[in-house]
Amino acid sequence: MSKKNKNIAYVSVFFSLICLISCSNSASDTVSSDNEISSDSLHNHFKGLFRMGAAINEQTILGFDKQSKEIVTTEFNSITPENSLKWMYLQPEPNQFDFSVADKYVQLGLQNNMYIVGHALVWHSQLADFMQNIQSSTEMNAHVQNHVNTVVSRYKGKINAWDVVNEAFNEDGTLRTSVFYNQMGEDYIDQVFQWAAKADPDADLIYNDYNVYKPSKRAGILRLVEKLKSNGTKISGVGVQAHWDLNSPSLQEIEQIILDISSVGVPVSFTELDISVLPSPWELVGAEVSQNFSELEGDPTMNPYPNGLPDAIQNQLAKRYEDIFKLFIKHKDKISRVTFWGVMDKHSWLNDWPIKGRTNYPLLFDRNYQPKKAYQSVIHATTTD
Ligand code: G3I
Repeated sequence: MSKKNKNIAYVSVFFSLICLISCSNSASDTVSSDNEISSDSLHNHFKGLFRMGAAINEQTILGFDKQSKEIVTTEFNSITPENSLKWMYLQPEPNQFDFSVADKYVQLGLQNNMYIVGHALVWHSQLADFMQNIQSSTEMNAHVQNHVNTVVSRYKGKINAWDVVNEAFNEDGTLRTSVFYNQMGEDYIDQVFQWAAKADPDADLIYNDYNVYKPSKRAGILRLVEKLKSNGTKISGVGVQAHWDLNSPSLQEIEQIILDISSVGVPVSFTELDISVLPSPWELVGAEVSQNFSELEGDPTMNPYPNGLPDAIQNQLAKRYEDIFKLFIKHKDKISRVTFWGVMDKHSWLNDWPIKGRTNYPLLFDRNYQPKKAYQSVIHATTTD
């Protein structure tokens, strides 16, 4: 037995014992106790259903985090760069491009025959400083066109899908007044998709956003898809970020996302899936990166599991993942990819957002690079009706 399979077998016995102790409380709180961890990789279990991806950080891309790299290349068949292909890193100064990490990212995907995602071409956040000070629409158009053309052309035929425009909508379905909107006007998204399609006609071109479960925001996105399609502009799908928690959104709300996006004739990709187990300040949902609650830093009620996740919550997380994946599988014909926003809990952005310095557990692998019960439950979802 390989070292990895041994680890998996140990984890299986461990979780079976935990389940004997804790699953007896209430069947509805737990995943089925007859789970078996297969030595097969995660993506193999989803063969014929949809791609299974992970966002990877620079340490993994550059090979400094060998364990993470091993998990990523074994368990997943798609990768997304968590930060490395964002504008501020690729083009920090006008026409000064730095592709050193991006090239390694693409190389990693090609070597492992993965579906490679580019994230994100046009986003108001993590943008280069010089882009914030542009005063004319002509100049803005020129910079955006140059960025899209230079980056997409470089990886033509290598990067399979681009998050072309990211987070362009407000919660009420109107367009966010970003620097792009302000300088290029309300048709800027259409324009950017056209530039991307010209630079690589074969790449999948995605519009990506969070809080798509909210009907008003989703309506704006659906209008965009219909508009682009009626203009003859290529759009290959909607990316639903899926930064969710143990209770929200409901399965019904998630199902409605899938049905509505599919009804406008494009597939859904769940592009940034993670499930926070921590209390949320006020009614905060989604992934608005500008929000943070510094006054709550160090508040123990906001960080209840600094030394490990109690079994009951571990089970709840696993059950939530299993329910979500059962739903995804039910709609497999409408879904092209599910990507987790990270690999190990310890690297998740959710340890620092919206409150810095917390200990969150949103992913499938724990702080010691071991598969969690949620890993099994995701696989188990493929074995049931
Ligand atoms: O680059 C600096 C580095 O020089 C410095 O040493 C380090 C110290 O903190 O910070 C580094 O920058 C951080 C960057 O990630 C790269 O690690 C920023 O502080 C940090 O704010 C940034 O967070 C990223 C966030 O986007 C920024 O908006 C998260 O890692 C990343 O997971 C998150 O990803 C976004 C998606 O792109 C879009 N959807 C929402 C999602 C979650 O916010």
